Amino acid sequence: MTTDTTGTAARDGEPRPGGPADSPFVRACRREPVPHTPVWFMRQAGRSLPEYREIRANVGMLESCRRPDLVAEITLQPVRRHGVDAAILFSDIVVPVAAAGVDLDIVPGTGPVVAEPVRTAEDVERIRLIGRDDVSYVDEAVRLLVAELGATPLIGFAGAPFTLASYLVEGGPSRTHAKTKALMYGQPELWHALCARLAEVTLSFLRVQIEAGVSAVQLFDSWAGALSEADYRRYVLPHSTTVLSGLADAGVPRIHFGVGTAELLGAMSEAGADVVGVDWRTPLDVATRRIGPDRAVQGNLDPTVLLAPWSVVETEVRRIVEQGRAAPGHVFNLGHGVLPETDPEVLTRVVALVHEVSARRAERG
Ligand code: CP3
Repeated sequence: MTTDTTGTAARDGEPRPGGPADSPFVRACRREPVPHTPVWFMRQAGRSLPEYREIRANVGMLESCRRPDLVAEITLQPVRRHGVDAAILFSDIVVPVAAAGVDLDIVPGTGPVVAEPVRTAEDVERIRLIGRDDVSYVDEAVRLLVAELGATPLIGFAGAPFTLASYLVEGGPSRTHAKTKALMYGQPELWHALCARLAEVTLSFLRVQIEAGVSAVQLFDSWAGALSEADYRRYVLPHSTTVLSGLADAGVPRIHFGVGTAELLGAMSEAGADVVGVDWRTPLDVATRRIGPDRAVQGNLDPTVLLAPWSVVETEVRRIVEQGRAAPGHVFNLGHGVLPETDPEVLTRVVALVHEVSARRAERG
């Protein structure tokens, strides 16, 4: 399949009309006019869906990420069910790190667990650089999905160097990121070597996904909010910039997202993304002032609001669509991932409501 038939990259001119590169989602990322505010949900494919739980009943998480048929089916489930404006590849941020030779597993109820946490320069050097052959299952899954999705764009993703480094240094999930910060402050050279290596792995991993036809990429720096702005700028921003600015010529929008990043939004928007993801703590009009007029925003319904009565959900969705008008482009999303206990029917209703509210207002204006 050539890039031309996917209609995503638009390397030689305008996007194909009606193709994924001309979709409301990609147009909003590019700050172009849209027929309605596009909407997708982080973790839309996953534990909130009974059809997902059924597929995963006897298959481990990493194994499911390495089976293109399962990846494709799981990725498509929320698109069929909710009518979202974009699909996101089903995978995990540690998949490329495992492909780079790090011994790890994803433990149910815990998350990624690393057998031998990174402590030394030798540990860093053992993290191999990767190419398409190391993640051929991702390449294959993306190609299957692009063929299946038609006009609906597929978002590829990766974890950002800081968030990946946190798992590698802690050995697993951490509330304080204490070991990570101790290494960062105490052995800055080793820290920068680790993050530089992770940035190279991440850049290659995203290039594989883009070559295979994804219409956009999102770089998740989920735990960056643990840092002050000064430390973020010194220890993290250069490495996230390697990844995001390294994709400037790739022809697809780049989204950058973290949680608890109110104080970092300005700095994060300097890393080279076209769209900055915002969690629920910062209203989108305030976030837009921090991010600047030349970036679109994505967000930012509190995922726990979806557990509240519908009247509360409706009020919050309307508020967010309204505040998103302050930005030059708005992709509706949650402020973080869908919680497992979310009623999927509420998600479907949110998609319809976002479309309805934003389309009606566009006609008037
Ligand atoms: O819905 C699901 O969560 C089921 C599948 C699953 C994923 N990762 C998919 C995923 C599971 C069980 C994991 C393990 C895992 N990995 C966890 C959850 C631990 C648990 O059981 O509660 C965590 C926190 C990780 C590490 C991780 N993965 C992070 C920090 C991120 C970045 C996004 C975020 O949530 O902050 C990921 C990405 C990820 N894992 C995605 C998916 C489908 C990203 C794409 C998306 O948003 O859909």
